[in-house]
Amino acid sequence: MAEKIILDVDTGHDDMVAIVMASGLEEIDLLGVVAVAGNQVLEKTLHNTLNVCQLIGESAPVFAGMDRPIIRERVVAGDIHGKSGLDGPTFPPLNKQAERGHGVNFIIDTVMGNPHEVTLVPTGPLSDIAMAIRLEPRLPKVVKQIVLMGGSLGAGNRTPYAEFNIFADGEAASIVFNSGAPIVMMGLDVTLQVLLDRERLDRYSRFSSKTATMFNASMKHYMAACRLHGAEYPAMHDPCCVAYVADPTIFTTEEHSIEVELKDEERYGKTIALPPTPNKPTLVGMGADTSLFWPLLERAFSNLP
Ligand code: BDR
Ligand code: CA
Repeated sequence: MAEKIILDVDTGHDDMVAIVMASGLEEIDLLGVVAVAGNQVLEKTLHNTLNVCQLIGESAPVFAGMDRPIIRERVVAGDIHGKSGLDGPTFPPLNKQAERGHGVNFIIDTVMGNPHEVTLVPTGPLSDIAMAIRLEPRLPKVVKQIVLMGGSLGAGNRTPYAEFNIFADGEAASIVFNSGAPIVMMGLDVTLQVLLDRERLDRYSRFSSKTATMFNASMKHYMAACRLHGAEYPAMHDPCCVAYVADPTIFTTEEHSIEVELKDEERYGKTIALPPTPNKPTLVGMGADTSLFWPLLERAFSNLP
């Protein structure tokens, strides 16, 4: 049976790829998509999410989530994802609309209404998930698992210590990691192994479907932006979470319990691995068999317009 998931995205370039994979893979039953502020302000991440869903023909409901971190000031990642948050592709006029109601309530109602069946897949700052846990404290015991993109056991990418999604709302991340929910952390340790190289981009540029055309235009921007920031090839951070849900055997993991640095400003948002404890179970992705990852993306392409 397909895995029921809710995506919580700050649609940016790699979030877009996560949506494509979640929509196009038979292993996944996409119940809904919530947009959160992160790579850009909420208005833009919501707009991008609706554009992507409309273009690929995804009919799952889209909701607006939190427009800011739960305590701190908003930070965005315009240097990588551009002014729109998804610079590169052009989209047809947008008809798909966000649902009424708040994304956090959608998360709570869906998880509580399908006990032990729903996997949450946050690929942006954890503001919505933390807020859902605060509003419904039973959620960590009822959710199947939370497979998140964020953190790093080594260096960060937003600061020398912190990965962007955790840095953008460290307090939210701390609530989630301390909630007792079963968590899988797809952090930089693993996502930086899944790189889109020039050869693969050239191969995909021969695919001419609407979805592949959007992917190719997005990735051209993403690759150039990553180059400007010293990375030869862009990482497929967010789709690693969807790939894990579809086929966990792609990844190797280690069990830890994760603490988030909140007090020391210089190291704010660093994810610190401590010995595993039963009340804070986190599997941290450490290795990826990329030969199993790309066929998933290609199958998603072939299932989408
Ligand atoms: C994360 O930060 C964002 O810019 C990407 O979309 C990804 O979720 C990587 O650090
Ligand atoms: Ca993201």
